[in-house]
Amino acid sequence: MYKELIETANILSLDKPNQLALLANISAHIYQNIERLNWVGFYLYDSKGLVLGPFQGKPATTYIPLNRGVCGQAARTLETVMVPDVHLHIDHIACDEASNSELVIPMIVNDTLYGVLDIDSPIKHRFDDTLIEAIEEIVRNLEKSIDNTPFFK
Ligand code: SME
Repeated sequence: MYKELIETANILSLDKPNQLALLANISAHIYQNIERLNWVGFYLYDSKGLVLGPFQGKPATTYIPLNRGVCGQAARTLETVMVPDVHLHIDHIACDEASNSELVIPMIVNDTLYGVLDIDSPIKHRFDDTLIEAIEEIVRNLEKSIDNTPFFK
């Protein structure tokens, strides 16, 4: 179902002048091609917390401590966190009032936490297993591309 989405992401992941360009294109690709999303972006780990990176959507909080939010939870546990209803989550940080569900996938590069991919939807229960697996596959490929790519030059 998401074969084309994954293949195009993999092609975009081959074009990597630097990490920011790559992350920017992947966030745009997901935002443009998956329906019913209102925010897609990256938070990058700076050894203490998560700093806002390339994204699509409304301006968002620029820094998330590792002990806060759905993003912090995914970064701490190194596991995908899917929140079907953000209003029921004990520590959801609201950036866009339109968000009702959220998916956060941690990124590991060189066996180290690199950051997270954060995706918000205005629809509760938006993220089913098929969609989660597709986005995780995109992230796994992205991690390989990020490796050996300069951050910025
Ligand atoms: N909801 C996130 C914060 C980031 S915004 O959704 C873009 C969280 O709880 O960590």
